Amino acid sequence: MSKYQYLYDLNDKANWLSPITVKSPDGHVVEEQRTILLPEGARRHFTMTDSVMHATRPDGGPHLFHEHAFGYEIFFVDSGGMDVYINRQKAYIKPGSILFLQPYQTHGMFFRADTKYRGFFHDMPYNEEGEAASLLREYFPNFMEDPAFPKEIQPKGDFFIREPLAKFTEVPPEQCQPIRHRERPMAIYDLPEITMKMLTGRWENGGLCELWCFEMKSGFHAQSYPYPVNTDLYYVTEGEVKFKVYDEEFTARAEQLVKIPMYAPRSFEAVADSVMYDVGGLPRWDAYLSDLESILTEDPVRAKDPAVLDSLRKKYGIHYSEFGKLGGW
Ligand SMILES: [Fe+2]
Repeated sequence: MSKYQYLYDLNDKANWLSPITVKSPDGHVVEEQRTILLPEGARRHFTMTDSVMHATRPDGGPHLFHEHAFGYEIFFVDSGGMDVYINRQKAYIKPGSILFLQPYQTHGMFFRADTKYRGFFHDMPYNEEGEAASLLREYFPNFMEDPAFPKEIQPKGDFFIREPLAKFTEVPPEQCQPIRHRERPMAIYDLPEITMKMLTGRWENGGLCELWCFEMKSGFHAQSYPYPVNTDLYYVTEGEVKFKVYDEEFTARAEQLVKIPMYAPRSFEAVADSVMYDVGGLPRWDAYLSDLESILTEDPVRAKDPAVLDSLRKKYGIHYSEFGKLGGW
């Protein structure tokens, strides 16, 4: 646990739950993985693992082609670089990109260099990192390789190994649907001091969440309602963002997560130009911003009534009172 209860520095070993080393069948280390956040609720939201994927050896294929029946995966590729094989395509993923995998999208990877690979998951039935799994790992670190370990326990019907993709077309990343980047958002809203960019849609996440990037100018400030309805999970990749949660103040920087429980009054302020992702993604940002845009365009008189904005925010779980201040839009 870090000094601040809502802040998780991914490079601070104090935040690493059950760190493991994954080896290939011939004994090479392929991944160093640590769990940072455990799954929550029926949809097992907010699960987060931080991995260093080791460079795939040049003769190292095949690339563990597999698919998930239920689980959604979002990987921030933060350093190194990799190729993904998916949708009958092969594409290069540069650092700063996001790989978004939906159920039954068969995927295989080739890591061109050691790669910081930050995973956020939901609906994944087997990220079972509770006390029982930690104890198991402590006493039997190689249980996954043990033929005696019951196979039906680990995958729980989610994980299917597939044959490597025999035919594929190499395409640039912008033509590969699972590769997302804030350079090419699906929707973009320019608000005063903040540009909001949508990177995955709610309809792509089984209705649970959406992924947004906040590009904030120094000085951008957001203050929540007294009893915010959502748990927030933010991932900062650039700059400095000062938070206040209840009476605790702290600053989040690159490679740090901020997780704020529901009901906790919160505010944040960019104290430098900053980039922060809403990886929890519970607020219905797209519906809110799109409706707001429609009202501003079609009915500017109605848009002048603060109660209209207030009810719109409540309707869509936007628990901040400041996004979409009129005037700058
Ligand atoms: Fe996967």
